[in-house]
Amino acid sequence: MPVLRNISQLATCPVNTAQNDAGLIANAALAWEGDTIQWAGPYLDLPDQYRHEKVFDCGRKLVIPGLVDCHTHLCFGGWRGDEFELRLQGASYQEIAAGGGGIASTVAATRGASLGELQRKAEQALDGMLSLGVTTVEGKSGYGLDEANELKQLEVYRRLQKSHRMDLVPTFLGAHIVPPEYQANRDRYISMLCDVLIPRVARLGLARFCDAFVEKGAYTVDEARKILSTAAAHKLGIKVHADQLSDGGGAVLAAELGAVSAEHLEYISDDGIQALSEAGTVAVSLPLASLYLDEPFLPARKLLDSGVPVAVASDFNPGSAPSFHLPLAMTLACLKQSMTPQESLKGATTIAAQAISEQSRIGSLRPGFQADLAIIDAPSLNHWLYHFQANGCNAVMKRGEWI
Ligand code: NIG
Ligand code: FE
Repeated sequence: MPVLRNISQLATCPVNTAQNDAGLIANAALAWEGDTIQWAGPYLDLPDQYRHEKVFDCGRKLVIPGLVDCHTHLCFGGWRGDEFELRLQGASYQEIAAGGGGIASTVAATRGASLGELQRKAEQALDGMLSLGVTTVEGKSGYGLDEANELKQLEVYRRLQKSHRMDLVPTFLGAHIVPPEYQANRDRYISMLCDVLIPRVARLGLARFCDAFVEKGAYTVDEARKILSTAAAHKLGIKVHADQLSDGGGAVLAAELGAVSAEHLEYISDDGIQALSEAGTVAVSLPLASLYLDEPFLPARKLLDSGVPVAVASDFNPGSAPSFHLPLAMTLACLKQSMTPQESLKGATTIAAQAISEQSRIGSLRPGFQADLAIIDAPSLNHWLYHFQANGCNAVMKRGEWI
């Protein structure tokens, strides 16, 4: 059984402890067998049975669980750099969308791209994420918005689940916006989602979760309730893009439906916070989107103080968050959401795993968990998250194997 030792600080990120308890252990060691962690603790306590095993010296560095990016729009055609410049000149995200740009322009580019092109592009992003220490990624559809193209995006994810070393969790986001050709007849699109696409996606096992964007210019609370209840009836888990640009009641809906997560929440109301707390729904913070859109950051302290777990994810997409740099999002969670480094790390590991219903398998370095971890070029968690590096990740282990 191989052993990692000479770890200056090991962040075990235990489940069911306060979010501010990342389970930090100084001068630590970790043993694993196959794809599973067997032992983690102070080196002095390492059981004799592991002492003569194959040893990997970590050179007095920080070791963390492989990061979990629990909210991305990984598969898309094109980019939107021109809109970046328009926004810098003062145009808002909503104004650009009302003019036919925004999500609709990525829908056009995604429809125009072949499955192979989309797969290669998503693969490159996954390679980049792995090199940052990310070992599990949630990926949404939502740039196809018709039967063939939503299935094309989900098929990209299905192929990548087989071909790429990253663990990939697919989410159906057919209710991202109402596609341009249905603008005058939105009920027909919603019926198509409920009667055709959701049953099909569920039957084919192409998604684990269903998401909907509740916002002016996207879906109303009542429309999202209909779509997400249909998805739940087909045994898909529920996620909601909620209260991103205004308080639209999305968080309250997420709680009502027993959603696993409510995501964004820049404008969440006190009622929304209360509802999430009672429902046990994870709040997913997306600080890169707040940064890029110059919007408020989600009120993490209020959420945490109300007992709502707060995850940190990248929101990687070509518009509001054109970066998959989850460690940067974690640093921003500290700087702009007043989260401690330990809260931020648990937000991108244990709590992020909870946001995709995988908290008993990944996101933690306790015995029995999958051996996904990263060696970080820093002596401690505090050092890593305050000293931003383009890439502070030295090595990644996925399912017990070095990548
Ligand atoms: O999470 N809010 C809606 N969806 C994405 C943005 C997608 C886009 O701009 O292309 C988000 O921010
Ligand atoms: Fe998003």
